This record gives sequence, structure tokens and C-alpha cells, in this order.
Amino acid sequence: MIAIASDHAGIGLKAQIVRTLAGLGHEVEDLGPTDATSVDYPDYAHLLARAVSDGRIERGILICGTGIGMSMAANRHPGVRAAVCHDAFTAEMARRHNDANVLCLGARVVGSGVAEQIARVFVSTPFDGDRHARRVAKIEWEVS
Ligand code: RB5
Repeated sequence: MIAIASDHAGIGLKAQIVRTLAGLGHEVEDLGPTDATSVDYPDYAHLLARAVSDGRIERGILICGTGIGMSMAANRHPGVRAAVCHDAFTAEMARRHNDANVLCLGARVVGSGVAEQIARVFVSTPFDGDRHARRVAKIEWEVS
């Protein structure tokens, strides 16, 4: 199960990514918004990140203008590893080395074809584990 959410800047790309992933046989839960009315991206980032942090969904995709604000908000949640990806390579590495469980896309940064490719790589690439598992575990350490 993959959840997806956006702000107003990402709503068009969100619909496209939902269609792409559904076409590949994935079950996609759209957490909103449902129209292009201006909204605050943290509201949707927290909604989706909470579900990932609770274990209710395995992976999520967040889309705003740049992907940056969404990633900042999502990464406040324990267990959430949100990565802004700009191409297939960063998406592949985010999965293989960082075990990213939330993909953040910038609808004003990447074209629709590249965004589709990034999403496909994100949902199909496994985590490499091994030494990367040790490093990913250290991400959760308390910072004080
Ligand atoms: C909205 O204008 C824009 O700030 C938002 O989509 C996002 O890019 C924030 O990081």
C-alpha cells in the first residue's frame, strides 16, 4: 500500500503519479487535497508521515513545488526517512542506501516524465541492507 498527498502546487502531478502506479498494479491511497485550492504543505506532510510512522502504510509520496517543505515536515516523524529525489539515480540510491520510505517530489522542478520514472524506481527498488542498515539505524539516534 502506497499513500500519496500533495499541496496545491503538486496536485496535477499527484493525479498523474496515482494513475501511473495504479497502472503498475499498486494500491494507492490518495490523502488529498482534492482540488487546487491553496493549502499549507505541512498539513499534508504530517498526515502522510504520521501514517508511515505508525506503520499504517509502508511507503508514501509527497509532492509540493520543490519537495523541500514536504521533506522537512515529514522527517520530523520517528521512523520516517523522506528523500527529495530529482532523477532516477537519486531515487535508486534513496531506496538502496537510505531505505527511504517517503519520496518527495518537486512539481515545479522535475518534468512529468522524469517524475514518473522516479516514482517507478522508488516503488520497485529494494533496500541493500548490510552496512547500510547500520547507518540507517544511526539516523534515529537522539541529537542533543
Ligand atoms: C507553495 O507555493 C510552495 O511553497 C510549496 O509547494 C513548496 O514548494 C514548499 O516547499
